[in-house]
Amino acid sequence: MMCALSRNLCSLLACCIVLLLPLQTGAATAELAPVKVQGLRGAVPIEQINPPGRYRQERDHGPADRDFVQQPPLIPHSIQGYQITANFNKCMDCHAWQKTKVSGATKVSVTHYRTREGQELDSVSPLRYFCNQCHVPQTDAKPLVDNTYQRARGLR
Ligand code: HEC
Ligand code: HEC
Repeated sequence: MMCALSRNLCSLLACCIVLLLPLQTGAATAELAPVKVQGLRGAVPIEQINPPGRYRQERDHGPADRDFVQQPPLIPHSIQGYQITANFNKCMDCHAWQKTKVSGATKVSVTHYRTREGQELDSVSPLRYFCNQCHVPQTDAKPLVDNTYQRARGLR
């Protein structure tokens, strides 16, 4: 059984080598017409860095409508200078459950207090600690590419 299997594998490998070798050498020698490709970074050479865009974050406003029910809500206020480090999370200054009465912020979702194993905690789960992984503010930047995304039917 082992013998038959390895013999089959061997002939398969041999086949591949025989079939692929000419392809590879062919590609190396073929004259390819130059293709003009323009990346999103524009004509700036790869060793140079594009200057950062000067975009403005949206002015603070009320909670934005969601595009689908499970969407992490967009951040409706500026987060300039809000730090999230191993010891300190600026977002929780206002969004932690015991802070929201004073801050007027939305309570962090209960789902954020559950670990990967389903254990319920009394402080935000490490899974959800880095808020900006999922929640983002919006700026006045123009979209880089078109898209045809539409709000979920149930929320239109
Ligand atoms: C100084 C207090 C404060 C800080 C700090 C703060 N927020 Fe807020 N946040 C608010 C308030 C107040 C609202 C509610 C605005 C309203 O209801 O009009 C809000 C709303 C939100 C919402 C919208 C919730 C919804 O239901 O749509 C998200 C998401 C959010 N904040 C995320 C963050 C994140 C992430 C950070 C940290 C980077 C952060 N916030 C830091 C005060 C704060
Ligand atoms: C892994 C992604 C993820 C991370 C990280 C995360 N969130 Fe969320 N958040 C969500 C999603 C998805 C929802 C909506 C569904 C839900 O409630 O779980 C949500 C909902 C919320 C809401 C709205 C709750 C409501 O009642 O409508 C607030 C406020 C919020 N998050 C704040 C935060 C803050 C503050 C942090 C950081 C401490 C954070 N989130 C980290 C994904 C995330």
